[in-house]
Amino acid sequence: MLQSANLTSLMNIMGQSIQAIRGMSDLLPSDLGHWQYVEKQLQTVLSAYAYQEIRFPILEKTTLFSRSIGEGTDVVDKEMYSFADRHDESLSLRPEGTAGCVRACLQHGLLHNQSQKLWYNGPMFRYERPQKGRYRQFYQLGVEAFGFANPSIDVELIALSARFWKQLGISEHVKLEINTLATAEERIAYRQVLVDYFQQHFEQLDEDSQRRLTVNPLRILDSKNPAMAELIVGAPKLIDYLNENSQANFAYVTMQLDRLGIAYVINPRLMRGLDYYSHTVFEWVTDQLGAQSAICAGGRYDGLIEQLGGRPNHAVGFALGFERLMLLLETVNALPRQVEQADIYLVCLGAAATDCAIKLAEELHNTVADLRIVLNHGGGGAKAQFKRADKSGARIALLLGDDELAKQQVTIKWLREDKEQQQVDFTQLPEFLNTI
Ligand code: HAM
Repeated sequence: MLQSANLTSLMNIMGQSIQAIRGMSDLLPSDLGHWQYVEKQLQTVLSAYAYQEIRFPILEKTTLFSRSIGEGTDVVDKEMYSFADRHDESLSLRPEGTAGCVRACLQHGLLHNQSQKLWYNGPMFRYERPQKGRYRQFYQLGVEAFGFANPSIDVELIALSARFWKQLGISEHVKLEINTLATAEERIAYRQVLVDYFQQHFEQLDEDSQRRLTVNPLRILDSKNPAMAELIVGAPKLIDYLNENSQANFAYVTMQLDRLGIAYVINPRLMRGLDYYSHTVFEWVTDQLGAQSAICAGGRYDGLIEQLGGRPNHAVGFALGFERLMLLLETVNALPRQVEQADIYLVCLGAAATDCAIKLAEELHNTVADLRIVLNHGGGGAKAQFKRADKSGARIALLLGDDELAKQQVTIKWLREDKEQQQVDFTQLPEFLNTI
């Protein structure tokens, strides 16, 4: 057998190209125009609700995730990218953002006598079987609110997520499902009822669910196995075992959603795949993407801060899967046809014109705010340059040739509008560009 070092050098000699890891995608400039457009739309909504950005590492100690997401969950048991570092400490690539966000807030004292409304956006990693809408590296935009006991914040977060869809023009393609997971104590009592029920039908459970019966029986309710569908529908529901406080809490959330005109379906089987939730949980689902239908999900997780070493505190949040959102936007044609990368293209005919254009471009960057300028670097005649100008998406081309240089003017050519070309003096150009 070849030693791996030998194998590597052999492959280098052969010059084989190296491919990305399965389930991990490159995002190319042609994709990112749309991604950035969507990020901007979402950030507009987030700042309208006064949420602030936070960034934290992609890599954390493995115990952070096993303690928060929970042993017995698929994410921790099967899907983490974990490895020992050079000092044999177990580290993991973050499979989600909530745990890291709480850790960062605790470490920097952000939860001490104050509330926080935060968002983050970045890559997460799960070793899942890749398919459409499910990847091993994927992006989540997460939103977390800390320090608010009143379920009015649950309502605000759901309303904020609903506004995302409104802003992007896809409200009719998503549906809100909500449920309550009550408190840990209520779940323990309910868990026994559920175990008794499934024990009576043990032979109807698939292998995964038989394993879950001892580790995490509530997750059986999440199973998508059609052979178990009837059994699950017949199972006792947590919603029928709520104490008064949990009932009132859930009733408040649904009443406020009714008042806001946000449609929802109560799904008593919505259990979420992560252990830290209590009370409100919700998912936005779509029927446009096949099996990977959840584009955004979250809920309240009051116990987690204490579990990670903080004082008891309140927390609610959600995360949306960026790839799934982009797929949905594409599928329902909700993306702008083209996201333009430039406002003006400088066409320069000849070496003297190029010299002048370099200077002119810098002057425009100094004097006109937010102007996106493409300077023609590739030489070429007028025809080739205008073709590039058109491809750049620019609204206007500024033509510089011998005539223009002699008169210290540029010729303005409108690339997208039916307007006459015109001449503008160099000195008047900033004012002209500021007013169009
Ligand atoms: P989650 O349900 O595990 O929740 O993930 C949230 C969203 O991330 C999913 O609804 C889906 O859109 C996307 N997602 C998850 N896994 C993948 C994957 N393998 N490929 C593509 N997209 C995926 C959480 O992660 C919680 N941290 C949400 C939260 C925040 N709860 C409270 N605060």
